[in-house]
Amino acid sequence: EKGGWDSFMDKEIHEEPAAVQRTLFGRLDEDGNINLDEVHIDEHDFKAVDKIIVIGCGTASYAGMVAKYAIEHWVRIPVEVELAHEFRYRDPILTPRTLVVAISQSGETMDTLMALRHAREQGSKVLAICNTQGASIPRESDAVLYTHAGPEVAVASTKAFVAQITAAYILGLYLAQLKGAVFRDEIHQTLDSLKAMPQKIQWVLDTQPPRVARAAEQLADANSFLFLGRHVGYPVALEGALKLKEIAYTFTEGFAAGELKHGPIALVDEGEPVVFIVPPERGRNILHAKVISGIEEVKARGAFIIAVAEEGDKDVERYADIIFWRPQCPTLMSPLVDVVPLQLLAMDMAKQKGYDVDKPRNLAKSVTVE
Ligand code: F6R
Repeated sequence: EKGGWDSFMDKEIHEEPAAVQRTLFGRLDEDGNINLDEVHIDEHDFKAVDKIIVIGCGTASYAGMVAKYAIEHWVRIPVEVELAHEFRYRDPILTPRTLVVAISQSGETMDTLMALRHAREQGSKVLAICNTQGASIPRESDAVLYTHAGPEVAVASTKAFVAQITAAYILGLYLAQLKGAVFRDEIHQTLDSLKAMPQKIQWVLDTQPPRVARAAEQLADANSFLFLGRHVGYPVALEGALKLKEIAYTFTEGFAAGELKHGPIALVDEGEPVVFIVPPERGRNILHAKVISGIEEVKARGAFIIAVAEEGDKDVERYADIIFWRPQCPTLMSPLVDVVPLQLLAMDMAKQKGYDVDKPRNLAKSVTVE
């Protein structure tokens, strides 16, 4: 059932183009507009939404963090993202105009389920983004947007993550369309960029694995890794750090690159591997220059730089010891490709150490206790 792959994780990473494609295509009508008839929330209720709170745990919460950047930009309403277990026990402010989006691959995560029950008790509507048909979380929600990633067997979540981002983007663009917050042309352009992503992920899968494998060999003895990113690269850094600790049992920390000088740079010592998610360079992306200056700072302290960057990025070529390339794409789409080499890196490092990548120690695929 691994279809020729030596682990489910490997197979599932390679299913990412299809996961995005399947999650996207059923939701576009012939004119290229988003059709969410499947979501049983009244248009009036949707239009009245004045705040979104995304809840989830682990990888699902990072997909929510990515979505925050996009949805706030498109819809111009505040989006909060919170770990479900923290949200549940802190008396959050919820009204009938708050839309709570519960993201869960399994649909059985007890922390997320308890949080959504609490939100509904307070009168808010809950929309689930879920990969498992008929699971508890979609059953107890007001509406559901399924991710069509297909069953995910490996404990470490991979294809579900890209499908969750895709589904959340569809939701955001739908709200933008409904609220007239963004011009139709811009929505169509953004959808075109999204439609191009399966091919771009495929490019990464076709070209980058040998680089990642070499990197895993070179880094086999490293005791700890830092992961840094800004904007949507920040949750990608957190996800990269989570993957590596989950399956390779390596001590990792992910943080916002802007935080470096506020503390974490003290950790940087000769040879410390530091992974940077470098935003696209095209146009006047001010964040690109800021991330590059972060790279310079840690390089000057002897760090070993691993970068995920846009093909042909000359600044990155100057400083990085290892580069995983991404094809050109808009910044908001970049998480869909940038996470791929980080998933592969975690997998390769775990395999090198002889660990079972599909069944890491101490972890279960779905966490059904609080
Ligand atoms: C990471 C991972 C966990 C899950 C988290 C939420 O690889 O597997 O962090 O993402 O337990 O699980 P779901 O999405 O099933 O609610």
